[in-house]
Amino acid sequence: MTEELRLVIVIGSVRDGRFGPVVAEWIAEQSNAHGAFAVTVVDLAEFDIPLALPDSSPKLEGDSYPRPDAMAGLTALLESADAFLLVTPEYNHSFPASLKAAIDWHFTQWAAKPVGLISYGGAAGGRHASAHLENVLSELGAVTIQQGLTFANYYTAWKDGSPVDSESAGYAKAMLDQLTWWARALSRARAESAYPF
Ligand SMILES: Cc1cc2nc3c(=O)[nH]c(=O)nc-3n(C[C@H](O)[C@H](O)[C@H](O)COP(=O)(O)O)c2cc1C
Repeated sequence: MTEELRLVIVIGSVRDGRFGPVVAEWIAEQSNAHGAFAVTVVDLAEFDIPLALPDSSPKLEGDSYPRPDAMAGLTALLESADAFLLVTPEYNHSFPASLKAAIDWHFTQWAAKPVGLISYGGAAGGRHASAHLENVLSELGAVTIQQGLTFANYYTAWKDGSPVDSESAGYAKAMLDQLTWWARALSRARAESAYPF
C-alpha cells in the first residue's frame, strides 16, 4: 500500500502556560521519524470553538451543520485525517472542555478513523481523561486503539522537551505501528462503503 496516510495530532488544552505543545511537538517528531504518515499538528487554541452549539445536531445535519467561519480550517483538517493522536491533559479526572467542544462540533470527521491517546497530568497521568475519551469517541464511530501513552507527574517525567523514561520512544513506535495498521484498514473500508451509523 503506497498511498500517503494523513495523521492529525490535536493539542487538547488551550490555557496560558499549558504543557500540551511540548508533548505534541515530541510526538510529532516521533511520528515524522516513524515515516508512515504525513503529520499535521492542530492547536485548538488557534480556533474559535464556542461552547454553545447551534440549535441542531451534527448527527442530523452532517456536512451542512452550521459552524463558525473561523472553525472551517479545523473542520477541514479533521476531515482530511486518516488517523488522529489526541494529546490531552487531565482536568478533574477527565479531559478538558476545549477538547470536548472540538469533538462535539463535529461528527463524520471522526467516524471510522483510528485514534491514539496520549495523556499527561499530575498523579493520575491522564488515565481518567483517556478512559473518558474512549467512551466519547466510540459514540462517534471512531476507533480508539490499544496502545497509548500516559505521563504521570509530567513536571518530573519530562526534561528539555522529551520524556525522561528512555522507553518512551519505543512505546511511541508501538502505538504508531498500530495506528498505521488501523489507518490503512479503515481508509480501505471507508473507500469501500460508507460507515453504517
Ligand atoms: C483544573 C485542573 C484540574 C486538574 N485535575 C487533575 C486531575 O484530576 N488529575 C491529574 O493527574 N492532574 C490534574 N491536573 C493537573 C494537570 O493535568 C496539569 O496541570 C497539566 O499540566 C495540565 O495540562 P496543560 O498544562 O496542557 O493545561 C489538573 C489541572 C487543572 C488546571
